[in-house]
Amino acid sequence: MVISIKAALSQAELPNSDTPRLDAEVLLYNVLGVRRSYLYAWPEKILTTHQYEQFRALLARRAQGEPIAYLTGHQEFWSLNLQVNENTLIPRPETELLVELAIERLSPKAQVIDLGTGSGAIALAIAQECQQCSILATDYSPAALKIAQHNAQKLGFQQVKFLLSDWCAALKNIKATIIVSNPPYIETADPHLNQGDVRYEPRTALVAGKDGLTDIRQIIAQAQNHLIEKGWLLLEHGYNQAQAVQALFKQYNYEAIQTYQDLAGLPRVTLGRLESKLNRKSLFSDQSNK
Ligand SMILES: C[S@@+](CC[C@H](N)C(=O)[O-])C[C@H]1O[C@@H](n2cnc3c(N)ncnc32)[C@H](O)[C@@H]1O
Repeated sequence: MVISIKAALSQAELPNSDTPRLDAEVLLYNVLGVRRSYLYAWPEKILTTHQYEQFRALLARRAQGEPIAYLTGHQEFWSLNLQVNENTLIPRPETELLVELAIERLSPKAQVIDLGTGSGAIALAIAQECQQCSILATDYSPAALKIAQHNAQKLGFQQVKFLLSDWCAALKNIKATIIVSNPPYIETADPHLNQGDVRYEPRTALVAGKDGLTDIRQIIAQAQNHLIEKGWLLLEHGYNQAQAVQALFKQYNYEAIQTYQDLAGLPRVTLGRLESKLNRKSLFSDQSNK
């Protein structure tokens, strides 16, 4: 079949997408291995049969709802081009708020832990801005950790190390100046789990029990053992969880607790600083609120 770039794009139909033309262009320039501008510079260029078939196959998958990032195998985050696949969450622009707040609190030789790193998005964005920081990125999914490691290697960020860990379980006596996390925080029964891109993302990266706070509770409780005095914990959470998250920070010896809004004006990141030992109240158990 003889078909030009322009004709292939105008034939493409994605009735369920909010951005059908953009989706088609992204898929086509990925198949061709070119930049988007190429499609406009060379609209009459004829596709090979193989290129056209690949493009049509990706369009069909997109029409079923598969996320563009999984179809192309990569996603931009903080100006980094990250490999992603069905084992990793697709990094979201909202998470850049967490990165910004962490960067504001970095000392030049900070030790940072990113809990639940997924594709490595947060850890690698911090590494990009702080060459001298040492960063430990953890996840309990070996498949996600493999992608994060690949991304770090491709970007040449040698100061980022990786550890397989169920939250802080494998950290032993490691302590950080800053701990960041974008953990799962969606309620099990949230109907959004059956809509859009999230249908294709790992449930283990999204869902956190009946109230969406199971993982946040564990992280807040465990992180205090892995922060230096006055070290910071920064957590992304759901737009309706700020009050509950602030209460947990208070319960577990954090001070200077504050919640920040994302660009849409929604409260999405809460942070706090670990009190010095003298000020801490004793806790009978980390598990008291599970
Ligand atoms: C919402 S995703 C965030 C991924 C990445 N940090 C980002 O912002 O794009 C949550 C991540 O936490 C990981 N995770 C879930 N439960 C975990 C646990 N118990 N211990 C460690 N990591 C966990 C998931 O595998 C997933 O990669």
